[in-house]
Amino acid sequence: MYQSNLLKTGSYINGQWLSSATYFEVTNPFDNSVLANVSNAGVTETEQAVVAAKIALRGWSQKPANERALLMRKWFDLVMKNQDELAELLTLEQGKPLAEAKGEISYGASFIEWFAEEGKRIYGDTMQAPSNDKRIVVIKQPVGVVAAITPWNFPNAMITRKAAAALAAGCTFVVRPAALTPLSALALAELSKQAGIPDGVFNVVVGTDSRAMGEVLTTHPDVAKFTFTGSTNVGKTLIKQCASTVKKVSMELGGNAPFIVFDDADINAAVQGAVVSKYRNAGQTCVCTNRILVQESVLKEFTEKFVIAVEALTLGNGLDHAVNIGPMISTSAIDEVKQLVALSLNAGARLLTGGVSEQGSCFYQPTVLADVTNEMAIAANEIFGPVAPIISFKTEQEALQIANDTEYGLAAYFYARDIGRVWRISEALEFGMIGINEGIISNAAAPFGGMKQSGNGREGSKYGLDDYLEIKYLCMGGI
Ligand code: SIN
Repeated sequence: MYQSNLLKTGSYINGQWLSSATYFEVTNPFDNSVLANVSNAGVTETEQAVVAAKIALRGWSQKPANERALLMRKWFDLVMKNQDELAELLTLEQGKPLAEAKGEISYGASFIEWFAEEGKRIYGDTMQAPSNDKRIVVIKQPVGVVAAITPWNFPNAMITRKAAAALAAGCTFVVRPAALTPLSALALAELSKQAGIPDGVFNVVVGTDSRAMGEVLTTHPDVAKFTFTGSTNVGKTLIKQCASTVKKVSMELGGNAPFIVFDDADINAAVQGAVVSKYRNAGQTCVCTNRILVQESVLKEFTEKFVIAVEALTLGNGLDHAVNIGPMISTSAIDEVKQLVALSLNAGARLLTGGVSEQGSCFYQPTVLADVTNEMAIAANEIFGPVAPIISFKTEQEALQIANDTEYGLAAYFYARDIGRVWRISEALEFGMIGINEGIISNAAAPFGGMKQSGNGREGSKYGLDDYLEIKYLCMGGI
């Protein structure tokens, strides 16, 4: 079993580590070895966490913003001081290569730093009243207790991106991380404790009964706001559940990112951009390229260069420094990818490189498919694996029609040099985030979020606090 000072094996509620009668195993997707046995929390513990957050709310929300910021800054410093250990833990439970895991830890920490600073800049407003005896004043206040459900693909950063905004706004927080990757969340809780974040302000409940725990977090009357990162289907169910108590919700859901290569693109740059955007985290991010659209006149050049770059990637154990693609999260994730590839090949796509891997049950080779059409299942669904389908197009209009022909609207990418085209395409793409000659777009300063069925709300940036604040209007009369 894995040993580390940051390895915690029970939920963190009201500043206490909880142990329960039953346990579940957390395993390493590289070889299925058991990393830890973790106390299995359920409904009772989730309710306890909400109550703890409710009790802590008064003290935390009334602290001056600069005092909250100082505690958050300490939390940030501790996360960065422990970056190597946190990254190793993350690679072990999630599989991503160590360099990517280290990147996720600093990415995750950057939200704590960013929002610690932004929390000091929550401004109100005054407005022109309709008569002289009145004044209109707007103040902003924390929404209250925030509940979150976060995914396994970013076991650290998807928590801090929500928790840091919530805490900076003066809210308290309860998160249920994915049961596949709870150890990074618990390590974050340990560091929040060391930083002096008061008991009950940041709570982590870990357990396998996602449905029952989700029910508590989406229906409990003391939860004012619910936030989720995960699939669109699960998000829809959670939104419905939140309706029963009319909670504020923000949702970061699935994507189907087009990556468009126009004939005026720098092809070498486009190849590099497509590789990083497609194969980051073995293709398991919501913003990963899902469909590569290439203009016919540059199709041959792009495809040949792309296949060479993909074949240079090394698949293996994330702890090995030479590896740049780790295992996928589970065998069921592999099965879904296999099925999408089989359907594409049956429908006329061609396998240029990759396919099933002999390395182990959770491995799939970085794969490229040619002759894909937008009607195939692989183009309509979020692949969430290391497979790049290439679709060709003739005109700008056709590229836009294909790119927007999806219910998703999270991220899109395109490579072009003509400035008129850059504006036309940027404005016409129906996606919340656009990478223009760039394959990696996520950072704390930028608003992360989607349109259409990819969700609502924005995380990070100056807009990220809005989802955790109420606007209150004060009408002052008798003046
Ligand atoms: C996600 O996959 O949900 C997040 C990816 C990112 O933050 O870049």
